[in-house]
Amino acid sequence: MKNIQISPSILSADFSQLGSEIKRLEEGGADMIHVDVMDGHFVPNLTIGPPVIKALRKHSSLKFDVHLMISPVHKYIDAYADAGADIITIHPEATENLENSIKRIKEKNKKVGVSLNPETKIDLIIDLLDQIDLVLIMSVNPGFGGQKFMPEVLDKIKELKKIRERKKLDFDIEIDGGINFDNCKSAIDAGANILVSGTTVFKSNDGDIKKNINLLKLK
Ligand code: DX5
Ligand code: ZN
Repeated sequence: MKNIQISPSILSADFSQLGSEIKRLEEGGADMIHVDVMDGHFVPNLTIGPPVIKALRKHSSLKFDVHLMISPVHKYIDAYADAGADIITIHPEATENLENSIKRIKEKNKKVGVSLNPETKIDLIIDLLDQIDLVLIMSVNPGFGGQKFMPEVLDKIKELKKIRERKKLDFDIEIDGGINFDNCKSAIDAGANILVSGTTVFKSNDGDIKKNINLLKLK
């Protein structure tokens, strides 16, 4: 049974204070930092890129769980790896050759994540699961924080967990989008062991990050 980890999304942080915001997350008990990179092309929103990640790197020793919602993604993998990403998660629809992109992330000695949008089927990646360290299941359509959780993706998590057991693999299952105190238990029970959360971590309980992280961990 994998430990439950919380990866708070800085998309909901105060972008004018990102350095101190990630320090607050670390002090609040975050297990890693979820960095949402958006290019205004793969998703209808634009956030940050390698220079910001490089600048943030020295402010935290936590793993940077970098979610690349950008396309084309392959030619930018090196830049995010060199900027300080520890986990690089890409969307299959954003690369011409998913296996090549997975290989490139590994060549840069980073953990490989692949993200499935709510409509994207597991079939798309099933033959590559043995090369993947983390599957990120989107429970919203990517692009914005604060969206409504889509419970139908829980079935995908249950199916993925069964496949992992059948193939005797060990990848992490991360869920991302609309995670809050009402749905975190069903996400964990379905098989997610890493929960991404932006709005709930930063905005609930008057912004008490430590309390919010512990509540999401069912503590
Ligand atoms: C959405 C991002 C998510 C989002 C989560 O495209 O990938 O990480 O920021 O934010 P909340 O927890 O507010 O839904
Ligand atoms: Zn994300």
